[in-house]
Amino acid sequence: MSRLNDSTSRQSSEQVPGRVTVAPGVLAGAVRVPGDKSIGHRALIIGALTDGTCILTGVPASQDVLATAAAVQAMGATVTLGAGSTGLDGTVTGPLGAPDRPIDCGNSGTALRLLAGVAAGIDGTTTLTGDESLLARPMGRVSRPLRALGATVDGPDDATRPPLAVTGVIRDGGSHRSEVASAQVKSALLLAAVRAGVGVTVQSPLPSRDHTERMLRAMGLAVETDLEDGARVTLSAGVPAAIPITVPADPSSAAFWWAAAAIGGTVVTTPDVGVNPGRTGILAPLAAFGAAVSIELQDPAGDEPVATVTVDGSGGLTEHTSLGGAQVVDAIDELPILAIVGALGDGGLEVTDAAELRVKESDRIGALERLFTALGMTIQTRPDGFTVPGGQQPRGGTFDAGLDHRLAMSAAIAATVATGPVTIDGFAATGSSYPGFASDFASLGGSIAPADGTDGPP
Ligand code: S3P
Repeated sequence: MSRLNDSTSRQSSEQVPGRVTVAPGVLAGAVRVPGDKSIGHRALIIGALTDGTCILTGVPASQDVLATAAAVQAMGATVTLGAGSTGLDGTVTGPLGAPDRPIDCGNSGTALRLLAGVAAGIDGTTTLTGDESLLARPMGRVSRPLRALGATVDGPDDATRPPLAVTGVIRDGGSHRSEVASAQVKSALLLAAVRAGVGVTVQSPLPSRDHTERMLRAMGLAVETDLEDGARVTLSAGVPAAIPITVPADPSSAAFWWAAAAIGGTVVTTPDVGVNPGRTGILAPLAAFGAAVSIELQDPAGDEPVATVTVDGSGGLTEHTSLGGAQVVDAIDELPILAIVGALGDGGLEVTDAAELRVKESDRIGALERLFTALGMTIQTRPDGFTVPGGQQPRGGTFDAGLDHRLAMSAAIAATVATGPVTIDGFAATGSSYPGFASDFASLGGSIAPADGTDGPP
């Protein structure tokens, strides 16, 4: 067990090469993917807002979550994390206060937005910044409601982009309407209220992943959700009680292997996966295309459901599928890899109501267009979605994923069924969420190797 900032924080990224070449070859087998990134962030942040020490198990050693661990330390928390059997194990102990230096959230929008919320509950100023990708992402969606709560938020273009300087403290939570169906915005408001010791109500246009609500409830707070008119979450004032937190495996990481089985006509099994309904929206379209999906429930991790998920693509993908509205929110991070599956099946895929994809780690609709073009495939894009004709096959080529981890991993999965090798630039971005992606890819039988200009094995 070691304090963060030494070998623990280095282990996430150093071995990930910047450029790889993937040779065709389908993937099959079983893999236990790293801990859930969304829950990892929350375990560290909310753990530091409790009345004691939270014991943490299975925290992913991903760069995004390590950025959050370093951030809460800079805000006064004590974090101990060391290698465990399913990730990093250790503890977090608050309280959180204003840091004496700017906090670098790296590539992580979740870290920046959730910590902006916490900062609104702190008497002092917290400055939050990040990498080139994060500096371009929209922040008005958190700045505006945090100001409405009484915080001062400064930043470029009226605090619509980072860096954000957030000065608390709010006195009364009140009631707020989020412009977007965003778990990050909702969580920012809930955490501002928790840190300030007040209640709050957040109304969103559609439900979004509810990890924050589940964790706060497990810690003894009253959190009510009303799904009648969009989604309204009401939190009562209180101090969360310290509890042990076990982080399940990340469905957004497992999704790459599920997709590989679907397009490869093989079987992949992923144990210990979090199957919160707000996160598993990719499974219904995979089944609708024709893959056989089995979900065997295991013991839950606190208030989060957990299962062994198996996807069997041996029956082929024959059907057309379309996604919109709430389905899009529940599959938001999986839409790039779903686009690949849609193109490889016979029936194709249509996605609407997905304008949010334009403001993720990259403009993912534009990035998908580049990926499809690089691999000789067709996609029709729109401001809020795309249509992918079915029956396509990728050819070999080169794709630059920039700073977008999910585009880099989507390209690698597409390469398994391509007619030639695919070289991926920007592959180091996979460390944001899934530092062991290349070795798990190889363990499932895939061929992946560092390309010229990088060193070390994946
Ligand atoms: C996340 C929420 C989603 C998701 C992101 C993680 C979270 O973003 O895309 O990868 O952990 O709350 P939005 O809340 O902005 O939709």
